[in-house]
Amino acid sequence: MRAVQVKEFGGPEVLMPVELPDPEPEAGEVVIDVAYADTLFVETQVRSGWGREYFDVTPPYVPGGGVSGTVTETGPGVPAEWLGRRVVSHVRGSYASRAVAAVSGLAVVPEEVDLLTAAALVHDGVTGAGLIERTAITRGERVLILGASGGMGTLLVQLAAARGARVVGLARGAEKTSLVRELGATAALDITTEDWLLSTREALGGSADVVLDGVGGELGASAFPLTADGGRFSAHGAPSGDFARLDTREAANRGIRLFGIGDVQFGPAELGRLAGYALGEAANGRLRAVIGEVFPLERAREAHSAVEQRGMVGKVLLEC
Ligand SMILES: NC(=O)c1ccc[n+]([C@@H]2O[C@H](COP(=O)([O-])OP(=O)(O)OC[C@H]3O[C@@H](n4cnc5c(N)ncnc54)[C@H](OP(=O)(O)O)[C@@H]3O)[C@@H](O)[C@H]2O)c1
Repeated sequence: MRAVQVKEFGGPEVLMPVELPDPEPEAGEVVIDVAYADTLFVETQVRSGWGREYFDVTPPYVPGGGVSGTVTETGPGVPAEWLGRRVVSHVRGSYASRAVAAVSGLAVVPEEVDLLTAAALVHDGVTGAGLIERTAITRGERVLILGASGGMGTLLVQLAAARGARVVGLARGAEKTSLVRELGATAALDITTEDWLLSTREALGGSADVVLDGVGGELGASAFPLTADGGRFSAHGAPSGDFARLDTREAANRGIRLFGIGDVQFGPAELGRLAGYALGEAANGRLRAVIGEVFPLERAREAHSAVEQRGMVGKVLLEC
């Protein structure tokens, strides 16, 4: 099969197209003929050698963890009716033309949803839907979303708004803030302006019941004071290079519940349920995946450069 490997930790140039043996399905597994693989900001960070304490990978490895495609082979014990079904799945190593996946982790893609959209939702839709559930966002709550123009951010804006929340998004530049408003935020502020913090407080009417921080670092830490007493703050994002460092004592004193990356790790059953939910929302037109650009698999290094340079509006995907 065709694949792309990280040959050593480093810049996008370490992503090399290679030929690897076709995967064989074991008991309870299927082979997916991959249509699209998604890319995540974190994959560029892991490729660069960041986060070794969280991510157990050693080069050479095939990066990526989510695919959409068609089942072409079934392993022992897997009913033959899976053959030909359009599915999404989390896999280990998705930058490849074929992937092996446990049948228990497959979600069937509804007819109304194309495989490109399905791939854009395989991680971001699942985590986004899970995050909205974990932080229990309800009607009328004020929700602040950092990184609102990102792959997951664009979905979080829509999912929180669909729950009846009043959403305020933070993004960089006029094009991205305008997209965030279009997706259902009542306000979107540009973090490159000097007074973004003040304008954000005003847009929230004082403070946020829930803060969803997909950026981390200094930006995440500066948004923490905007959290209402008794509110929730999720520090699940680190594209800035680190998760937001928060004063846990202050959080406890103010009754703020903190969530982290560990709160968005889901077991196989939950993954399947959340994927089904996100795909269902896309099928009925309530959830729109914003696609920035699609690169052929062999040009994965350009895809990583695009993600790192943050110029793209929407999700970057690989056509496998
Ligand atoms: N997707 C998932 O399933 C998942 C699961 C667990 C955790 N997460 C974490 O959630 C975060 C967001 O994920 P995503 O998939 O939405 O990523 P993404 O599509 O790459 O979006 C990241 C967002 O962060 C902003 N950003 C990037 N670098 C920044 C910096 N140095 N300073 C300020 N803002 C920066 C970008 O906005 P601008 O370019 O407009 O500034 C962009 O909107 C990531 O840290 C990811 O690891 C995601």
